Amino acid sequence: MRVYRFPKAAGIDTLQLADEPTPTPARGQILVRMRAASLNYRDLNVAAGKPARGTIPENLVPLSDGAGEVVAIGPDVTRVAVGDRVAGLFMQTWLGGALEPAHVASSRGGAIDGVLADYVLFDQDGVVPLPDHLSFTEGATLPCAALTAWNALYGGRPLQPGETVLVLGTGGVSIFALQFAHAAGARVIATSSSDQKLARARALGASSGVNYRANPEWQEDVLALTDGRGVDHVVEVGGAGTLPRSIEATRHGGQIHLIGVLTGGEINPTPILRRTLMLRGIYVGSREMFQAMNRAIALHAIRPVIDRVFPFAEARAAYHHMTRQGHLGKIVIEID
Ligand SMILES: NC(=O)c1ccc[n+]([C@@H]2O[C@H](COP(=O)([O-])OP(=O)(O)OC[C@H]3O[C@@H](n4cnc5c(N)ncnc54)[C@H](OP(=O)(O)O)[C@@H]3O)[C@@H](O)[C@H]2O)c1
Repeated sequence: MRVYRFPKAAGIDTLQLADEPTPTPARGQILVRMRAASLNYRDLNVAAGKPARGTIPENLVPLSDGAGEVVAIGPDVTRVAVGDRVAGLFMQTWLGGALEPAHVASSRGGAIDGVLADYVLFDQDGVVPLPDHLSFTEGATLPCAALTAWNALYGGRPLQPGETVLVLGTGGVSIFALQFAHAAGARVIATSSSDQKLARARALGASSGVNYRANPEWQEDVLALTDGRGVDHVVEVGGAGTLPRSIEATRHGGQIHLIGVLTGGEINPTPILRRTLMLRGIYVGSREMFQAMNRAIALHAIRPVIDRVFPFAEARAAYHHMTRQGHLGKIVIEID
C-alpha cells in the first residue's frame, strides 16, 4: 500500500511516499481503506517539526482526519462491519466524559500515526459512522475542525436560538461553527481579512461580516452590530493576539471558546473578570460529541465547505495551499 511519512518532520517537502505491506487487523481492530483525508492548521506545525506540545515521532504518518470504508475486521469486532463507511476519531481513546492526558496521547497524526495512507488500522472504538448524505471527501473534514466547532458551541453551556456567535476568520473551524450556529437559529457575525471571503460567509448564513485587516479595531464594528451589547459566543481561533478584542466584543457573562493560537500577544485578566466572562479551553472533542454532531449534520443536511481537493500524489501541494492561507473552509486529499 501507499503511505506518506515524515522520516524527520523538517518542512513540508520532507514528506515522503513509501510502499509498505497492507496491515492485518488483530483482535478488536478494523482495517479501513482510506478514501480521503483533510488538513488542519495543526498539520503545518507537525510538518515543520514544531507541534504545540511534545515532539513529533520519527517516521510519522501525518494527518488526523480521514474517512473510508471498512474492508476487514479482526476477531471479536462487534461495533463495526465490513462495508461500513466511517471517519476516524482525532483522539482515538476519548470516547466520552472529561478529557484526560491518556486521550491526548492517542491523537492521530501527532502523538501516533495518522491517516494519509491507502489503509489504516483502527481499534473498533476509534471510528464513527459517516452521515449517509456525505461523500468520503466531505466526511474526511469532520474529525478535528467540525468537532472542535461543535464542542465550542455545545460542549459547555450550549448555544441558544437567537444568540449571536462571532467567528474569527474563514478557516476550517470557523466555517463549521458558522454552519452549526446558523442551523441552530443563531445569528453569526464573521470576520475575515478578505471581502470576497466575507461575501461567501454571508452566502453560507452569516448575517454580517467585518474585515479585520481593513478595520483593525474590528471589535468596535462587532459592538455596533450588537447595539453595544456584544456577542454571546466567540469562536476564538486567533489566540493571544485577538483575545483582547474578542473580550471587548463579548457581552457581560458571555462565553469565549479558546481554540487557536494563530497570533501571539499579552492577555490582561482585568476585562475578563469585569465582564464576568466564561473562557473555555477546547481540545477537539470526544466520540460522544462526534456522534451528537453527526446527528445534527444529518438532520440539517449540512455539507462541509470544501475549498479544494488534491489527488493523493499531490499531498505536498495540499500542504503548500494551506500555508498560503487563501482557502475558505477545508482542504482535502482524495486517496483514490
Ligand atoms: N483547540 C483545538 O482543538 C483546535 C482544533 C482545530 C484547530 N485549532 C486551532 O485553531 C486555529 C484555526 O485552525 P483551522 O484548522 O481552522 O485553520 P485554517 O483553516 O488554516 O484557518 C485559518 C484562518 O484563520 C484566520 N485568521 C488568521 N489570522 C487571523 C486573525 N488575526 N484574526 C482573525 N482571523 C484570523 C484566517 O481567515 P481569513 O483568511 O478569513 O482572514 C485564516 O484563513 C489554529 O490555530 C489551529 O491550531 C485548535
